[in-house]
Amino acid sequence: MTSIDRIHRLAVIRGDGIGPEVIDAALAVLAAAESAFGFRTEITEIAAGAQHYLATGELWTPALQEQLRSHDAILFGAMGDPAVAPGILERGFILEMRRSFQQAVNLRPVKLYPGVVTPIAGLTPERCDLVIVRENTEGAYVGRGSTVHAGTPNAVAVQESVNTRMGVERVVEFAFRLAERRGGTLTLCHKKNILVEAGTLWQSTVDEVSARFPTVPVDYVHVDALCFYLPTTPERFNVVVTDNLFGDIITDLGAAIQGGLGVAASANVNLDGSGPSMFEAIHGSAPDIAGRGWANPVGAILSTAMCLAHLGEGDAARAIEAAAVHVLAQLPATAGPAMGFSTAQLGQKIAELVRSGASVAAIPGYSVMDDLAALR
Ligand code: IPM
Ligand code: MG
Repeated sequence: MTSIDRIHRLAVIRGDGIGPEVIDAALAVLAAAESAFGFRTEITEIAAGAQHYLATGELWTPALQEQLRSHDAILFGAMGDPAVAPGILERGFILEMRRSFQQAVNLRPVKLYPGVVTPIAGLTPERCDLVIVRENTEGAYVGRGSTVHAGTPNAVAVQESVNTRMGVERVVEFAFRLAERRGGTLTLCHKKNILVEAGTLWQSTVDEVSARFPTVPVDYVHVDALCFYLPTTPERFNVVVTDNLFGDIITDLGAAIQGGLGVAASANVNLDGSGPSMFEAIHGSAPDIAGRGWANPVGAILSTAMCLAHLGEGDAARAIEAAAVHVLAQLPATAGPAMGFSTAQLGQKIAELVRSGASVAAIPGYSVMDDLAALR
């Protein structure tokens, strides 16, 4: 690509709580990567989140959707505030964004980087290097259901989980492509012994798609068993594909294993070019620590690196990952005030390494940055 092609239009949604702080740190790193790697970004700041909602009553609007659609990617901080009832912003904005732009895959690496403290005694980085591919638009997240006799002792609540062949197949195929690249096993995680209808659809889709990927070994693990194996033998997994709700749950477990929500990153990937992909740390808005500079920005910084990889800036993405990992290895186990550096200082340290092109030790194992660059 010529440098003319390498102008990336990014929409930035800082949101609430610690969202603005971690995005500030991520943008400092992004600026460093631009000067070191010779691409440019044009950034549109989007006002959205609790304050915007309280002031205007607006969540996800058609106008915003069209504005965002004209961007190459979206960087997202966090959303949620005690002043807004739980679920309003989550369902009314985040899920609308994922669904409107058909961000079909939620890609969440679970990689223990060297020197990062994990609560799992004796776990080493070589044993923990997997990617969870979470279906991101369907399942229990469609918000369908009904309650009859609400508020009475006879109340009946029905909550539906929608699984379409198309929605399942596209994430399963992506997961196979990822597993093929990584030379690893694809594990389907479900609860097909109980959720028979959805489980049968998922398993039969995996079986059929598997015929197109003869070199990829296939495994199946029930979600409860996976919650046992993931902390005890993470080396058993390379690529895990699962539905929206199971994926939500097991990726928080994965984040705990890899050293906490502060380091966990994600990519919400649109697979067909019909809309922008969105990149966000896994953590929420953490209103209890907002504004203090206690938040670890590494999750947001690695999400920004994933964004760059997706946009074709694989070298910059790998450099950011390496710099973040280098800095991460120097941090104490504790988050918050005992982290030793403020959110902004951590961003600056990582940005300096990226800008100077300082060579830092290569990261062992697979780099999801390579995967994203290859699979976009
Ligand atoms: C996540 C979060 C979201 C989800 C919420 C904030 C809507 O928990 O990204 O994992 O449930 O998907
Ligand atoms: Mg979650």
